This record gives sequence, C-alpha cells and structure tokens, in this order.
Amino acid sequence: MSLLITNIGELVTNAPQDAVSVASPGPYAAITDAALVVDNGLIAWTGPASQAPAADEVVDAAGRAVLPGFVDSHAHLVFAGERGAEFAARMAGLPYSAGGIRSTVAATRAASVSDLRANLARLAAEMLAQGTTTFECKSGYGLTVADEERSVAVASELTPEVTYLGAHVVPPEFDGDSAGYVDLVCGDMLARCAPYAKWVDVFCERGAFGADEARAVLAAGEAAGLQARVHANQLGPGPGVQVAVEAGAASADHCTFLTDADVDALASSGGTVATLLPGVEFSTRQPYPDARRLLSAGVTVAIATDCNPGSCFTSSMPLCVALAVREMRLTTQEAVWAATAGGAHALRRSDIGHLGVGARADVIMLEAPSHAYLAYRPGVPMIARTWQSGPGAASAQWV
Ligand code: NIG
Ligand code: FE
Repeated sequence: MSLLITNIGELVTNAPQDAVSVASPGPYAAITDAALVVDNGLIAWTGPASQAPAADEVVDAAGRAVLPGFVDSHAHLVFAGERGAEFAARMAGLPYSAGGIRSTVAATRAASVSDLRANLARLAAEMLAQGTTTFECKSGYGLTVADEERSVAVASELTPEVTYLGAHVVPPEFDGDSAGYVDLVCGDMLARCAPYAKWVDVFCERGAFGADEARAVLAAGEAAGLQARVHANQLGPGPGVQVAVEAGAASADHCTFLTDADVDALASSGGTVATLLPGVEFSTRQPYPDARRLLSAGVTVAIATDCNPGSCFTSSMPLCVALAVREMRLTTQEAVWAATAGGAHALRRSDIGHLGVGARADVIMLEAPSHAYLAYRPGVPMIARTWQSGPGAASAQWV
C-alpha cells in the first residue's frame, strides 16, 4: 500500500532535495508546495507537488506543514507515584534537588508491573499524540536488581531505545556505601538489565555519582554491549561532560553549566551530542543552557523532554521546541532540527529524524502552514495527524 501526501505547504525533510537516497539526517532542509510518497513503511519520494507520482491512497494536506516525527531522546517513563507537591513547593521558593528521586524510587518499588506498564503506556500515548514517533526510556527508579530489571523489561515492550540507569542515585539501603552500590550496578544488576537495554547512563553530579564512579559504570556497560550516554552538568559545573566525551558517549544530557573546556570537548568529540532539556529549566527555575555558545562552537545539539515525575513532567516536544526558541534563542529551524534530526543523532539512528528516501515513514502533519507555528503558537495542539511506521515495514502501523 503506497500513500501520497500532497499539497504540503512546507515539507521539512532534513535531507538534500536532490538526493536519490539519504542514509542519515542532513542539515535542516525544507521544500514548499511539496509532496511525499510512502511505500512499504518507508519514504519513497519527496519533491514538488506538481511532479508527484501516483499512489494507492492520497491525502490532501491543504497547505499544512509536514515534518519528521519528533525524536525524544531523553525520558524517564517507568515509575509510579507523582510529585506535584514537590513542584508546588519549588514554585513557592524551594530549590530542586536530586533528593526527590528517592520518593519516586519508593513508589516504584511498591508498584506492580502492570501499574508500571499502564503508566508507561499512558505517557507513550501522550507523546505520540504530540508528534513523538520515537522515544528513549530510562530505568532508574528501581535501584535493586529486580526493580531495575523489571523497569528495563517493561520499557523494552514499547521502545527499542531502552537505557539502563541503575546509576541514577545511591538508594537508601546503600547510604554511606556508594562504592558498594556501584559494584552492584556494574555487576549483577547490569547482567540482568543488559539483555533489555541498548544504552547505559549515569547521573554524574554532586549528590549522585562522581567522575570515577561514572567511568566505572560506563566501562562496565560497554563491556556488556551497551552504549554510553550521561546526565552531565545539570545542577552545577562538574566532570560529566568530560566523562561523556572520554567514554565516546552518544550524548551528554542537560549541559546547563558548561566551562569553555566542556564546550571545546563536545565540539571536538566527533560524535557526542549535547542534548538540551529546556523543560527542566522551565520546571525548576534554573538558568537555561547557553545553546548559542554550543551551536557557535559547532556542537551537535538535540532537544528532548526529560519527561519524569520530578525535574520536568512534560511529555511535549512542541513545548520544548517553543522553549528552545523563546528561552534558548534557537531559530525555529534549529529547534525543529534539534527535536528531530538532533534526537536521531543522540540515539545514533540514521533511519529517523529526517524524511530522505529510505527513512522510516514517521511523519507528522501540523495544523499549521509552517514549522514555525510550533513556537509561534505555544501551548496550542498543533499535531493534525501522525503516521508511524512499525518495526517491520510489512506491519506499518498508521496512527
Ligand atoms: O534528568 N537528573 C537526574 N534525573 C532526572 C530527574 C529525576 C527526578 O527528579 O525524579 C533528570 O532531571
Ligand atoms: Fe534525565
């Protein structure tokens, strides 16, 4: 079954217009008065609407914009409970601290697998309704071997981008023995979680794990076949970004407090993306990261939600695009690229984040004529329609 979407006001492809086949996301690129053909779950053709080939089914976009689905490369969705009172207290003047994580750990341990699964499914549905066609999902609220294992197992039912975050914080039963906990994270817990995960992550921050502990976690994860990503420089300056770059991590996430040396390290890393999470700054009243400094230095920048019950409980990539534009001074094009192609780079995926020929047909249509409306009309539902390709082309699932 082939599908032609035609009469597209603006088609954001992130792919060179004249390319016959595009193996991975390119720089921001868009075509006006465009059309797109999907065949067998993949992008088969893009170009001027006047030259579009025939297809089995035709959708008239009536001048609306069409974009790659959002790639949310950072989210913590396996948890139970909520922390609305903590948020309210923060808005009344208390600072954010990682200490709140422990209350979610207690609720998560007490929850049944079916409750965890239902909460994850609800959040994944929220994301899809807001145009997210790929999401990453971390463990990190279990922090025992069994609770981490069931967290990654549940996550793997809904996404291939599963991250083992046993090194989120030291749980209460290991108070005063972070070395003992790191041994567990690098030992039995890793062995039980690795079969379900693609990534290993560590919260490298004062109050969580130091540089040497983070290095040990990433090295053990790599030895178990996982690829590295790091929570870095979120609450203050620190070694997180340097550790991420040394480890060849796909992404250093947060990057809120960076030195010149951190920016240089990212710029010369040859593959470590800076993933910015502006919803966190919005929800914690921290200063926003200096995105322009990163872009000027040539760092690849992604935007993601960090959806979690503590520091940022939004699942909305459109909100994060709007915040990136308004608060971090990205252009609308830079922000859309960071939320699509940037996320794909942060997940080391070449098949998503762009609409080049051969890419997965993960496509969103806006209720608007251009990508700029995502920031121009903040808070307004903008996703008119979503097409999501299934894991296999034959089972392509249209939402
Ligand atoms: O990315 N930084 C660590 N973890 C989460 C927050 C988790 C929480 O507060 O529950 C984050 O912000
Ligand atoms: Fe996070």
